[in-house]
This record gives sequence, C-alpha cells and structure tokens, in this order.
Amino acid sequence: MTAFPENLIAKILKRKQENALRSLGSNYAKVDFSSNDYLGFSKTRFQQHAGVSDGSTGSRLLTGNHQYFHNLERFLSEFHKVEAALVFNSGYDANLGFFSSVPQRGDIVIYDAFSHASIRDGIQLSNAKSYKFKHNDLEDLKKVLNTHKSHLGNLYVVTESVFSMDGDTPDLQAMVELTERYDAYLVIDEAHSVGVFGEKGEGLVQRLNLQHRVFARIITFGKALGCHGSAILGSEFLKVYLYNFARSFIFTTALSPHSIKVIENRYNMLNHHSPDSFYQQQRAQLLRNIKFFKATLNSLGLDKENYVPSDSAIQCILVPGNENVKTVAGTLQSAGFDVRPILSPTVPKDHERIRFCLHSFNTFDQITDVLKHLIH
Ligand SMILES: Cc1ncc(COP(=O)(O)O)c(C=O)c1O
Repeated sequence: MTAFPENLIAKILKRKQENALRSLGSNYAKVDFSSNDYLGFSKTRFQQHAGVSDGSTGSRLLTGNHQYFHNLERFLSEFHKVEAALVFNSGYDANLGFFSSVPQRGDIVIYDAFSHASIRDGIQLSNAKSYKFKHNDLEDLKKVLNTHKSHLGNLYVVTESVFSMDGDTPDLQAMVELTERYDAYLVIDEAHSVGVFGEKGEGLVQRLNLQHRVFARIITFGKALGCHGSAILGSEFLKVYLYNFARSFIFTTALSPHSIKVIENRYNMLNHHSPDSFYQQQRAQLLRNIKFFKATLNSLGLDKENYVPSDSAIQCILVPGNENVKTVAGTLQSAGFDVRPILSPTVPKDHERIRFCLHSFNTFDQITDVLKHLIH
C-alpha cells in the first residue's frame, strides 16, 4: 500500500475536529424518514425482458445509443409537454453538463444561494460569471438582475422547484414573470418535485402551466421514481447543443437498456392515473402524510422558529451546531428511526438541521412517534 498524502490526512482530521466528517453508514432496518423514495417505487419489482442487456457498451455518441433512449426521450417530451428531452446518467451529471457548457464567457448565471451542489459545481466549471441571490428572495433577485440588466451577454437564472435541504418552493409564477422582464433564461431543477406534484407527477412547473416559459428543466429519476438517471427538458436546439458540448453527457458510458426500461416502467405507473392506481394511492397517501406531519408538528409546538416551512415531502427542524444535531439524530436513530442530521458545510453553519423525508409508506403512528422523540 502506498502512503497517503499528509495534506489530505490533515483535511480529514480537520473535518473530524469540526464534527463534520462524513461516513458511509446504513440504517436499513430502521423506519425510513431519510431516503428520497417518496412513493416507495424503489421497492416495486420490474420484470426484466429477455434480451434487454445490462450494459450499454459505450457513450451515447458511440455504441451506447440504443433504441430505448429514443423511445424514452420521445415519451418524456410528450409527458412533460416540451419539445425535447435528453437523458443523462444522473441529476448530478445533468446539472454539471448544463451549467458547464451552456453559459458562455461573457454570460452571467444568477443562482439561488441554496442551490444544489451539482448546480454550483457546474457553474464553477463554466467560463461565465456568477452571482447568487438570497434564498427564495425575489426582491434580491430583482436587485441582482437590475445590476446586470445592461450586460451584453446572456443572463441565466437558476432555482429549484423544491429545495433539497429545505423542502421549500420559490414563487415560480413570479419568477417566470420577473425573468421574462429581464430577458433572462430561467432554469428550474425539479429533482424533488417530479412524481410528487402535478396530477400525474409531472412536477410543479407543469402544475402551474409554466412549461412553455422556462428555458430548461432538470428532472431526476433517483428520487420519487425510485430508480436512477435524469433528463434535461427544453428545446430541440438545447438538446442538440447539449449532446455536442456537455462533457458529462459525452464522455461517459450511457445508461444500460435495462436502466432505461426501468425508468419507462416507472413513468407507465405515473401515466396510469385512475384514482385506484398504485401511483395515485401512493401519492394521495404521501400528501396525507405531509399534512399529518405538519399538523403534528403544530400540536407539539414544534413548528415555531426552528421549523423550515414546507409543503413538500422534505421537512426540516433546525438544530444549530454539528454536535447538537448529531446528538438529536442519534437519539432518534437509537429509537429505531432512520433520520439523518444535515451538517455544515452541506448547509451553512448554524443552519444544521434534522431533515425528515416523508413517504407514502410511513404510518401516522410512526410520524407521531418520531416527532414525540424529538421533544424528549
Ligand atoms: C436539487 C437536486 N438536484 C440534483 C440532484 C442530483 O440528482 P441525482 O441524485 O440524480 O444525481 C439532487 C440530488 O441530491 C438534488 O437534490
């Protein structure tokens, strides 16, 4: 075994001292209040068809571009009411590919201060300048837009329809109107909204009928759809541009035919939207659970200043300090709940939190129980 560099050991030790060292744990036996499997879809069994292989054999620009991609992308563009869809290996890859390749030198990207790491990493790889605006604060966004309104390059504005670490939602309607006034291109990451919001789980943008006024949407299949992969939704031009310039699309092995069939299967479940379909039952139960969680928070007096208001499946209670939040999470874990502490630097210092991900399969008793443990 070769020696490990001293400077990297020092970084690990520093993280440890700050109580922020990440570990690869597993809590599978516990009650799940932590995964993104909001509808329990990851547990549905998909019968693999004979002849559908497990490997794609190459990048999509070489041998990996099997017919299943074309079928899925055509389906996605119809389902999501958009001209074109391009499938990526993950939401991380999609954001990295989009933000590193679309905004050019001379352009400006204006992003919500709480944007996901994949958006920030993409922006960092880009030659464009970037500025953040205060989280979900349209007045602040307006200020930043005003500062740059005479800029000659393109303006891109990016937000999430459900924020991954807060579960809250910006005023998308107002944001569309604002960005239109400034001729800015609006990009919305819908990772945590697809499957949960919209009659058939189309996401919040479509629920608000804003799909024609958004430059691009990033959707992921690893959250409510319970499988893996992602897509960027936009114009045919955007699609052609991305498969020519987005390096995280070009220089990687494509998803396998099997993976694509699983995504297709999950969308078929969304598409069967009669009230007694498996999907609609799960979605209705998830929405009931979100309501029940919030009502219980209220009755226990937990929805005061430390609660991050949210109507989504992601619900957070702030517990400032890495050590404190770890202790609280440890108590809940010892009581049998898979609840994770969210530490800084993942969230800003003093905004550490317990993050509850709610699911269709959580029971009212489990919700009451976990919240009661929070106050003991
Ligand atoms: C808002 C947001 N965008 C993108 C991603 C990345 O998606 P994926 O897990 O498919 O890589 C995540 C996942 O954590 C996310 O929360």
